[in-house]
Amino acid sequence: MIKGIKGVKDILPDETPRWRLVEETARRWAARYGFHEIRIPIFEVTTLFARSIGATTDIVEKEMYTFPDRDGTSLTLRPEGTAGTVRAFIEHNRAADPLAQKYFYIGPMFRHERPQAGRLRQFHQFGVEYFGTQDATADVDVIALLWRFLSDLALPDLTLEINSLGSTADRAAYLPVLRSFLQSRVEHLCDNCRRRLETNPLRVLDCKIPSCRAATEDAPQLISYLSAEAKSHFDQVLSMLTALAIPWRHNPRLVRGLDYYCLTAFEITSSHLGAQNAVGAGGRYDGLVELLGGPSTPAVGFATGLERIVMMLATDRLPASSPSVYVAAFGSAGKPAGAQVLDALRLAGVAAQSDYRVSTLKGHLRQADRAGCRFAVLLGDDEARSGSAVIRDMESKVQESISLGDLPRYFLSLIKGF
Ligand code: HAM
Repeated sequence: MIKGIKGVKDILPDETPRWRLVEETARRWAARYGFHEIRIPIFEVTTLFARSIGATTDIVEKEMYTFPDRDGTSLTLRPEGTAGTVRAFIEHNRAADPLAQKYFYIGPMFRHERPQAGRLRQFHQFGVEYFGTQDATADVDVIALLWRFLSDLALPDLTLEINSLGSTADRAAYLPVLRSFLQSRVEHLCDNCRRRLETNPLRVLDCKIPSCRAATEDAPQLISYLSAEAKSHFDQVLSMLTALAIPWRHNPRLVRGLDYYCLTAFEITSSHLGAQNAVGAGGRYDGLVELLGGPSTPAVGFATGLERIVMMLATDRLPASSPSVYVAAFGSAGKPAGAQVLDALRLAGVAAQSDYRVSTLKGHLRQADRAGCRFAVLLGDDEARSGSAVIRDMESKVQESISLGDLPRYFLSLIKGF
């Protein structure tokens, strides 16, 4: 038997209503904030991700699904959506548009991580990218959109953590200080952090291993090395969030696992999620468009993990599906008449179904019950000949006779009343 790939999940029909609710809510909130959908490819040339996410990040070092194309070009399944969106922004010269470019996307991403609850190798993100302004209000718009979207879904115990990563120059001033501090604690750091000390020292602050956390408890903080502009940008973001009544917590250790960030960085976590507690995250990436060969364009965005949202979604939030009709047709004249009734109902916009494996009335009623159909049309040879059928309300068991030609109108008005 051929099985699915580890960490790659099927989403079966009894789960898709939850997914649809999350996706529809995401689309609604994106539209309210003026973001338009972009659909970018699932694979790109590998250099795009290596250059934007950063060669020394976990994602690029060990998590990408990379393979040679037939001509030898190295391709990669997208591990996130920002790099592809920026590539598309540059390639289609979107900077020339006088309107600020505001995009959202929903779709699968791929990372070769160790699978566990809420961590998959194929997972789905809803993300937004806002190009063209360095104004702190854009950061707040993006964070507020994420917060309002998650709150609308009534996800429990959300915390917004936020930090400023400063400008490139601020980090350049801070990194030697951090590096020499880490050198002085090197014997307490895990192997991975010792390596990061050389390649990506900021990430040491983000290590989850308790001994590393303890060793870096009193590390110098980037926030003390912010330029006046960066500090003012951060203060504006925080005060606007407060004005919008969006609660935030400054986490000076928040550094993010992707290299393109500057200034604002944020993450929303939930205590209901276990180890993989980040529901969504993002930040500003003012240098990325230029780094990838485009015109200097500031930008800010976020992405959320849909699996994690679906996991936390309370089931009572699912909208009830509209009632459907089961056509119980049997007998040599009843069956073909039933096929016509099914067709007429569907053409009229009524959800109608039958189980063609069943040939008795009793069997049909059992299947109608199992399928959760609200009404059944009972249609045997006698009914077919008389040109009418018996309608049964599956809940009240009340029955009445209706002429076949009137069935679509009859059900349409019934269903509208629900
Ligand atoms: P990220 O923090 O790598 O950021 O991912 C964002 C969210 O995707 C995470 O908070 C988490 O909910 C979800 N996620 C990540 N990896 C997995 C996984 N293996 N399984 C399940 N869910 C996962 C980014 O991807 C940036 N592109 C966000 C961004 C957009 N920044 C600016 N614009």
